[in-house]
Amino acid sequence: MPSICVVGSVNLDLVMIVDRVPEVGETVLGGDLERIPGGKGGNQAVAAVRSGGDVYMVGRVGEDEAGRVLRRSLEDAGVNTDRVLETPGCNSGTALIAVQADGDNAIVVSPGANARLSAQDVRESAMVANADVVLAQAEVPREAVLTAASTCGGLFVWNVAPVPSWTADLLPFVDVLVVNEPELRAVMGSTTMPPTGEIAKWSAASGIAAVVVTLGSEGALLVSEGEVAQIPAPAVNVVDTTGAGDAFCGALAVRLAAHRAIPTVADVQFAVAAGTAATQVRGAR
Ligand code: RIB
Repeated sequence: MPSICVVGSVNLDLVMIVDRVPEVGETVLGGDLERIPGGKGGNQAVAAVRSGGDVYMVGRVGEDEAGRVLRRSLEDAGVNTDRVLETPGCNSGTALIAVQADGDNAIVVSPGANARLSAQDVRESAMVANADVVLAQAEVPREAVLTAASTCGGLFVWNVAPVPSWTADLLPFVDVLVVNEPELRAVMGSTTMPPTGEIAKWSAASGIAAVVVTLGSEGALLVSEGEVAQIPAPAVNVVDTTGAGDAFCGALAVRLAAHRAIPTVADVQFAVAAGTAATQVRGAR
């Protein structure tokens, strides 16, 4: 079975449905508050299990009720949580999420225990060296992600979300970069969507074997050594886009782990299908 080690965040999502997200200085009324397990790391780990992976999570939760709920939800989904560490005196990560009627969302994250994930926590996790793929995001500290990237024994896949100030430190270790369009623009320092030729030149200069850009309802773009392809998504009724990118990353990681090589068009098609399916249900998982 392809093995995936996810190094990342685990959050409790506090979700409210709103007609539209408020502008700065504005108040809007929403629906009932829901508490749902989330966090980009946790969501991607669960998505990878659903796609057939043997999944190990490295992260931190608080010493609180939310932490117990979050750990249990990962275990129930089939994720190995031996390295999901309880953090004394700390709250679990929490995300405030407003989901609009059209399915789009706005998210604010309080990292809580995620901010305590250390280089040592990662170094002590044997699966970072042993897994076919190490999958990380950017809701945990630089030192943790950098250690995961530099000690990874298989492919290192980085979903640069949210884009951190330390992005450049990580790029030399990245095999496959997964970004959405605003993240790609931020990472490449571009005000507009860069043409595929520029993405190819930039990734080659950065030593990245493949860049995968998620494009929402438009599918995804694959730019790799020797291949450029746009992969369309099927048209669906979108309910909630929260976690669609995470479902994409988890599914892609399983495909890459199975052949331990950079993405093919078929791999990205598989990931697009998983991301699309995730938009048809409420919640991040
Ligand atoms: O990608 C969606 C996730 O982002 C949410 O589950 C929230 O916790 C934040 O991490």
